[in-house]
Amino acid sequence: MTINIRRLQEIDLEEADHIFRLAFGTFLGLPDPMQFAAGANIVGTRWRANSHNVVLGAYDGVRLVGSNIITRWGSFGMFGPLTVLPDYWDKGVGQLLMASTIAKFAQWEVDTAGLFTFPHSTKHLGLYQKFDFWPQRLTAIMVKPVHAVSPHAPPLRGEGQNLLRQAKAITDANFPGLDLSEEILALWDQNMGELVVVEEHGAIAAFAICHAGSGTEAGPDKLLIKFAATLPGRQEHFSKLLAACEGAAARLGLSTVAAGINTTCSEAYQTALGLGYRLQMTGVAMHRGNAAGYFAKNAFVISDWR
Ligand SMILES: CC(C)(COP(=O)(O)OP(=O)(O)OC[C@H]1O[C@@H](n2cnc3c(N)ncnc32)[C@H](O)[C@@H]1OP(=O)(O)O)[C@@H](O)C(=O)NCCC(=O)NCCS
Repeated sequence: MTINIRRLQEIDLEEADHIFRLAFGTFLGLPDPMQFAAGANIVGTRWRANSHNVVLGAYDGVRLVGSNIITRWGSFGMFGPLTVLPDYWDKGVGQLLMASTIAKFAQWEVDTAGLFTFPHSTKHLGLYQKFDFWPQRLTAIMVKPVHAVSPHAPPLRGEGQNLLRQAKAITDANFPGLDLSEEILALWDQNMGELVVVEEHGAIAAFAICHAGSGTEAGPDKLLIKFAATLPGRQEHFSKLLAACEGAAARLGLSTVAAGINTTCSEAYQTALGLGYRLQMTGVAMHRGNAAGYFAKNAFVISDWR
């Protein structure tokens, strides 16, 4: 068996999506593995957002047997979902994809990188540790039902470049060079949801990149806060931002808001708990070189790296 790693072509997207669902559904023991992340689209939406994502495929001859998505947010890199066809597990395919992933991070010259994985899996921890990713704190995936939410914030209208500039100033204050601009542009380009903001004195004090409903990373009936941030220490802006996201979900007719908060960001985590968010599942953040990245006690950041 000779495995080649190369960029995934559009013609292989459907198969990559199939392997993604089958691999996770099998690992998690779902009765029908293909029901994993039903109604959500992660592989396709990230593949199309190709200014900041690179999707690698692992090929046995012409057959696709695995893939990984590598993401660049300015000075920060992230990867996943990494998935391999179950028949090919434990044959080194995941490690080949990882080696090419590390090469891409080096080419991008990101300062550090991270991933989200299963804290109970010795295989997952062992695999990533080989590539200098080390487990830190749990990431809490939290949900809140949005019934009886008031008032419904109107959808944001604003000038794109100005919004991007202000959002970048906020991420930069959390981690030098962290830049979610391409993620926001992808949200708009693919019409996947809304950028929700809190304004103060005519400027943006906090923002949230929200995927909404089927065909996005959120999935049916859900608003997923893929990334959100305030300036460090600004709890009042964080609370307002969550309320605004709930208002957006209600306006869009969605019943649940989901947000992943790393527990290193303990003030944000406790604020969300206090506002009625409840744990749905946990993962662990693994950080390259054991660096802190942008997670800190007073960082009001929502970012789960799934
Ligand atoms: C996770 C996944 C991508 C790994 O792919 P794979 O091709 O099976 O992985 P590889 O064979 O390249 O590497 C497995 C490595 O796991 C590590 N490993 C396995 N069991 C281990 C243990 N008990 N302790 C420490 N390390 C262990 C080893 O490093 C092993 O490689 P080695 O035996 O050659 O040293 C694949 O199993 C998969 O698709 N799983 C379902 C989806 C998923 O969980 N994706 C990752 C989400 S973060």
